[in-house]
Amino acid sequence: MSKFEQTCHVQVVYKLLIPAHVVRCVCKEELGGLMATISGNLLPDKSANSFGILDKVVAFRSKRLRAQEALRSRHDASELLLKERTAELEKQVSQRYRAEECLRELTARVLHLQDDERRHIARELHDSAGQYLAALQMNLSALQRESSTLAPLQAIRVADSMEIVNCCISEIRTLSYLMHPPLLDEVGLGAALKGYAVGFAERSGIRVDVDIPADLGRLPSDTETSLFRVVQQSLANVHRHSGSHVAKIKIRRDAEQTTVEIGDEGRGIPPGLLQEFDDCIRLVGVGIAGMRERIRGMKGRFSIRSSPQGTTVEASLPNR
Ligand SMILES: Nc1ncnc2c1ncn2[C@@H]1O[C@H](COP(=O)(O)OP(=O)(O)OP(=O)(O)O)[C@@H](O)[C@H]1O
Ligand SMILES: [Mg+2]
Repeated sequence: MSKFEQTCHVQVVYKLLIPAHVVRCVCKEELGGLMATISGNLLPDKSANSFGILDKVVAFRSKRLRAQEALRSRHDASELLLKERTAELEKQVSQRYRAEECLRELTARVLHLQDDERRHIARELHDSAGQYLAALQMNLSALQRESSTLAPLQAIRVADSMEIVNCCISEIRTLSYLMHPPLLDEVGLGAALKGYAVGFAERSGIRVDVDIPADLGRLPSDTETSLFRVVQQSLANVHRHSGSHVAKIKIRRDAEQTTVEIGDEGRGIPPGLLQEFDDCIRLVGVGIAGMRERIRGMKGRFSIRSSPQGTTVEASLPNR
């Protein structure tokens, strides 16, 4: 590098940097780049004075401004694109949220209709088929009382028929009871659950402990039916899946809500499966999904806790 160029470097630095805002060197590298540009263009014959240098600097500065402007407009364009995309995504999310709400309401209504239908079928079974069978039973027992007048084969046929009719009556009573326990409408959730627990224990061989406050009182019919269904489904799951020999039904009521808890001491639900239920990404059966939708559709809370020591299902509904 010539002596002249070395001198120029010193001059350029002071002339360019001292007037504030004329050239802004933000870092050492930038300063180095500026020096290189200027010194590379400095030829002794053309640029022997500071005005020549200033021209170069101005050209450099406006090139830089143009580049900055182009960068800014590119930035503005991508920001606009981003805003449009965000608005589109927000729209999609709220549409999906609304669709889920509708589905939840629809599910709750379907379950409600199903309850009504079950109640209706249970009554029909009890009041119609049940009554015809009861009449048949009376006739057969009258015949049995006169069995001494019957031929031996006829007496055997009457006895057989009596057995079949008794079986039918018992099946119809159980079916009608499982469809909709009559006690639920008449004496309420607490008494209906106590009766159901006794029947379940007899049928399944699983001991059921019941912890229901004596002063539970009555709740709206929908609430009683839904909480009853949760207990029914949960006990069915205890019987089918848990391997537990005991189950517990507990009810708590406070000023706002009533909570039922059904626990077992079985093998538990595999954690992965439970997480998939919570995230609604897997549907194994309709039991748990149905309970959850039923309770959430009535603005209640539903949860399941499970470990290798057992499973507890908890459902709360507002008292109103
Ligand atoms: N108390 C429990 N103990 C262990 N596993 C359970 C228990 N309850 C549920 N599960 C597991 O969760 C799964 C889903 O239960 P869910 O009630 O939804 O369906 P299901 O009982 O298989 O069929 P459905 O109720 O439709 O007849 C069960 O298949 C079982 O693997
Ligand atoms: Mg089930």
